Amino acid sequence: MNTLSFPEFNQDCFSLLCRNLSKKVFEKLKDKATGNGCTLYQTINSGVVNQDSSVGVYAGDAESYTLFAELFDPIIEDYHGFSSKDKHLSYLDPSALISPNPDPEGAYILSTRIRVGRNIAGMPLGPAVTIEQRNEIEGQVVKALNSLTGGLSGTYYPLSGMDESIRSRLVEDHFLFKPGDRFLDAAGLNRDWPNGRGIFHNAEKTFLVWVNEEDQLRIISMQPGGDIEAVFTRLVTAIMKIEKSVPFLFDERLGYLTSCPTNLGTAMRASVHIRLPQLGADMPVFKKLTDLFHLQIRGIHGEHSESERGIYDISNKKRLGVTEVECVQNLYNGIIALINREKEFAAASD
Ligand code: ARG
Repeated sequence: MNTLSFPEFNQDCFSLLCRNLSKKVFEKLKDKATGNGCTLYQTINSGVVNQDSSVGVYAGDAESYTLFAELFDPIIEDYHGFSSKDKHLSYLDPSALISPNPDPEGAYILSTRIRVGRNIAGMPLGPAVTIEQRNEIEGQVVKALNSLTGGLSGTYYPLSGMDESIRSRLVEDHFLFKPGDRFLDAAGLNRDWPNGRGIFHNAEKTFLVWVNEEDQLRIISMQPGGDIEAVFTRLVTAIMKIEKSVPFLFDERLGYLTSCPTNLGTAMRASVHIRLPQLGADMPVFKKLTDLFHLQIRGIHGEHSESERGIYDISNKKRLGVTEVECVQNLYNGIIALINREKEFAAASD
């Protein structure tokens, strides 16, 4: 891409980038750079290279969100419904949640997973870290993880030089993040791969941390079944412990800062893998119901994957301008509505 000329977008490009980048804003921002040297060109490259992006931008550092606010703010408003005058509030208290297992018989929910993204205060975000900074981050995070005790204690597996038997086990467990993601690639997030990246997990495989993927930390709590409260409680306990030794990047207005603007705020994605074959066969009804609860439907093999055998990944779409408790509570309420609808459909087709 020519850094000086306005990018070309295909006719069928509907990304938030192409919808929000006007020629005027482009001209105004194209020669600016943050203290870490992040430019507009780097910020938009993923969406220019990948025209099928739904969003298409990544921030290289905290300053990018203010320096390039004329691009980020409308994208953030579009995605989260959060205006430039709103302020994010965090509320990480599992005791405020009312979520008895919505599926105690285990007829619908296969598993529950909640993750948050975190980055380190004072460091650039992934698209702009240097190799030295990435190694420094890995060192700090692994030190904190290795000091965890009880049910959270576990092992760190660095990607560099990873033993093939460990690699295939992690892939089998669906723990390992995929190499070569083209969206991350174009954002500069895969530089020096696999240096500084790795995965930590506890013995029970219910607590997991990805190091230096799309965000410097992805803290993940998961387990089979629908006990959302247990999953959220474990996650919050882990976050609090890690935060004691690793200071997280937090912004007064935007909450926890992440490289992709879809994750700002809570940086939380609370999800279930759920069997809903009847609803899956009636997508308009399914979509209407998930939209009502601001939920997203994905396939079960991660982002950009298809559903299999009527099993879907359902998660909160909005992450900014809602508290963590609201994200999880909302997922819970949505799941109850989805299960009820699925039961109705099944009864009608009996
Ligand atoms: N950049 C990709 C796109 O615009 C992914 C956006 C959201 N997902 C994420 N993993 N941050 O389609």
